Amino acid sequence: MFETLTAPKPDAIIALMQAFAADTRAGKIDLGVGVYRDEEGRTPVMAAVKAAEARILAEQDSKSYLSLAGDAGFLQAMETLLLGGAAPSARVAAVGTPGGSAAVRQICELIRKTRPESVIWVSAQTWPNHLPLITAAGLQARPYRYLAPEGGLDQPGLFADLEQAAAGDVVLLHGCCHNPSGVDLAPQDWAELGALLARRGAVPFVDMAYQGFGAGLDADAGGLRHLAARLPEVLVAASCSKNFGLYRERVGIAMAIVSAAQRDTLAAVLAGLNRQNFAFPPDHGARVVSTILGDVALRHQWLTELDAMRARVQANRRALAEALRAETGSDRFAGVAAEQGMFSLLPLSHDEVQRLRAEHGVYVLDDGRANMAGLSARNIAACARAIASVTR
Ligand SMILES: Cc1ncc(COP(=O)(O)O)c(C=O)c1O
Repeated sequence: MFETLTAPKPDAIIALMQAFAADTRAGKIDLGVGVYRDEEGRTPVMAAVKAAEARILAEQDSKSYLSLAGDAGFLQAMETLLLGGAAPSARVAAVGTPGGSAAVRQICELIRKTRPESVIWVSAQTWPNHLPLITAAGLQARPYRYLAPEGGLDQPGLFADLEQAAAGDVVLLHGCCHNPSGVDLAPQDWAELGALLARRGAVPFVDMAYQGFGAGLDADAGGLRHLAARLPEVLVAASCSKNFGLYRERVGIAMAIVSAAQRDTLAAVLAGLNRQNFAFPPDHGARVVSTILGDVALRHQWLTELDAMRARVQANRRALAEALRAETGSDRFAGVAAEQGMFSLLPLSHDEVQRLRAEHGVYVLDDGRANMAGLSARNIAACARAIASVTR
């Protein structure tokens, strides 16, 4: 049966993780996979998560199945966290999913079920798994311009491309800090985009995994909330992997904001898609999230930790940009200080990226995407020297 099967090309991020693990050099630096790291290079369990887990361990008296949509308390807490009341609950249908990636897949399944001919518009700079998630669900993707050649948002290109969107097309948007370039849409861009989508009759689909890593919880959800308050239909895939540090627990939510008349149908369809693909979403991580968000003291503790994570990454950005200016004597890498969230797309050629890896043990993705949380006071100077040496 399996004789004709060939192994798929490894996912670029997973392959880089494996190459880093196999590298035996002591000074190697991992700026690849998108996980937060502390000053010691660890991805710790947040103290608020530990406290919530202790409470769950003490109080939980059953592990029996819940509903196909997942825990209602989690869904409600996430709706509030994401939307902040921008759309009434009567318009929100949501289900839990195993992480944000599965939420993207479930939303794609929903689109295929509803309107399989929809084109999904995807920013030219995106995550390696966006296109496979879309095409594996049987949908077609089309790129829209995102980054300008000189860095920053290619606003005219983005709006010109999305003017081509047809009614019923879906536009995949990166929530705050989600674009791998570190370049976000400004509030004015979200507003203009909202007007364009309304005019074209296209549906926004926001992939949101870094709420809290930009300017704060509410500000980071501003773009999504703007759309949710103004457009008749909005799709959302959100993750708690990064802002709760719950990566391996697989905590995500797939959400459709629709008319109140259609809300119950959408909720049933989304639950049916869960049934079809994995039945019940994982509960433990989702329960940790609802426990934290539902308790004043735990929520405060979590926010304090999240604020510290954001501040550390921002400090790393400034330190790397300064060190690179000193090492290269140029402003080539100045964008690093201004960009948001964990990622930046370093302006490096494919050859420079390979040399960085081979000669210096500094691991960034082939397109130059680097995780700023992988830097620390111990390795920033070495990293800047390595980058300067391959770009000389
Ligand atoms: C496209 C995309 N969306 C969302 C996420 C959120 O992460 P997770 O699936 O771990 O919740 C990821 C992370 O891999 C991703 O690649």
